[in-house]
Amino acid sequence: MPIQGIDIAECNLCKECIKECPKSNFSINSTKTQILFDNAKGCLLCGHCIAVCPKGAIIYENMKDSTFEFEEHYNSISYDALYRVMRSKRSIRQFKNKKVTIELIEKVIDCMRYAPTSMNKRTLKCLLISDDKKIQEIIDLVIKGLDLDEGKEEYKKKRDNGIDPFFYNAPHILILHSDNEWDSKNAPISITYAMLCAETLGLGSCWIGGIQIFLSEHKEIQKKILGNDNNIYGIIIIGYPAVKYFRGPPRPPIETKIISNSSN
Ligand SMILES: Cc1cc2nc3c(=O)[nH]c(=O)nc-3n(C[C@H](O)[C@H](O)[C@H](O)COP(=O)(O)O)c2cc1C
Repeated sequence: MPIQGIDIAECNLCKECIKECPKSNFSINSTKTQILFDNAKGCLLCGHCIAVCPKGAIIYENMKDSTFEFEEHYNSISYDALYRVMRSKRSIRQFKNKKVTIELIEKVIDCMRYAPTSMNKRTLKCLLISDDKKIQEIIDLVIKGLDLDEGKEEYKKKRDNGIDPFFYNAPHILILHSDNEWDSKNAPISITYAMLCAETLGLGSCWIGGIQIFLSEHKEIQKKILGNDNNIYGIIIIGYPAVKYFRGPPRPPIETKIISNSSN
């Protein structure tokens, strides 16, 4: 979305872009009649100028996306509604034997692009595996690559009895990978977005960190699965839950130290 300039005919000189730009790339001319855009300091590609301009006067290159228009100043859901989702959401390890449509999974993938990212370098890539044979192949490759002391026999026994020891017979596996090391920080946020979005669509998910670590330590196996040696920054399984929960379990509080003005 590189910013190209300002549509002078639309601009109402409100100066919101000047206040909002983290790089101070906007200014007003000496006669106070025109907002100027200068990309000399480099643009962060945050798009805040586009978001904040009441007149839609910012000119930009599109990113295979359109802007998202609000009816009101700000769209939000209540704390209570979000809190309920967060406290009732569980990592799902029992799935119905039913594929999710590609349209629904694309909705989950799509929402990840709106997660915050360091420097707006949106370099995270997704591999969606929905082919049962391919999933079986991955399970076989992992078991083959395991050492005996890593529970190889136990996993093997499970697999031979038709139990998926790693992905819980989930119908879909989503692997997030990238060659940008900053995605180690970005990916968990994108994945959290995806998992919360999946929840709203009636889908269950679970992060499979064990296989993520295994593949990172066995690049030759990863290459067979992914086709490259990018870093894997997350693996989640997705499907329709075959389990019903009646309550959210308790969690210990986050240890918090507060530093405030002494008068407070
Ligand atoms: C980074 C990360 C890695 C995880 N790896 C695994 C895993 O390999 N296998 C698994 O069954 N669950 C895995 N989980 C799920 C956690 O076990 C789960 O979040 C935790 O037990 C709490 O349950 P809840 O998500 O239902 O609240 C992982 C979760 C996270 C955040």
